[in-house]
Amino acid sequence: LDLAVLVSGSGSNLQAVIDRIESGALDARLRLVLSNKPQAYGLERARKHGVPALCLEHGSFPDREAFDAEMVRLIREHGADTVAMAGFMRMVTPRFLSAFPGRVVNIHPALLPSFPGVHGQRDAADYGVRFSGCTVHFVDEKMDNGPIIIQAVVPAYPGDDGKSLGARILELEHRIYPQALQWLAQGRLTVSGRKVLLANEGQ
Ligand code: GRF
Repeated sequence: LDLAVLVSGSGSNLQAVIDRIESGALDARLRLVLSNKPQAYGLERARKHGVPALCLEHGSFPDREAFDAEMVRLIREHGADTVAMAGFMRMVTPRFLSAFPGRVVNIHPALLPSFPGVHGQRDAADYGVRFSGCTVHFVDEKMDNGPIIIQAVVPAYPGDDGKSLGARILELEHRIYPQALQWLAQGRLTVSGRKVLLANEGQ
């Protein structure tokens, strides 16, 4: 798997991916980390591990298409064929998706299809759910919508707010994202309509 990771912030999921690659548990080469925010700590994490890390400020592009075209160019130029969005706070265009068909994934901090959007943890806590979790899914043109690869569940308590629930969820994010990417690396995932089939499940 030749991977590019897109970040906008802390990059703790990126760190989980880096750690799994370095431990040999994830058969991937991290070719590039891209951020749309210059101050994203994810860029620093990448550089610490010798991974090329670049920032593209979306404000300096005339439109989304131009921004995405440049991302595609850089990702290809660095030899990546698979894209993992990890706290990347922007939607990608259909044109971006068609450059990496079936090879763009995202992680969302809620149990989709519940609580899509940018405040998944807070929305779930405020709603008063008793369980929440995280979802790794293939990306399509709608927000937090594509076929689900893996989910993990955590309890939610009445005293939770987005922060406390989010912290509990984040721990599991760090486990399931590398797992989903490893399945992708092993060529074990097939999409059939909304469903993702995992080859040799249980073996
Ligand atoms: C995670 O909660 C992820 O699910 C969401 O944004 C957050 C990113 O965290 N999309 P980090 O930058 O990986 O630490």
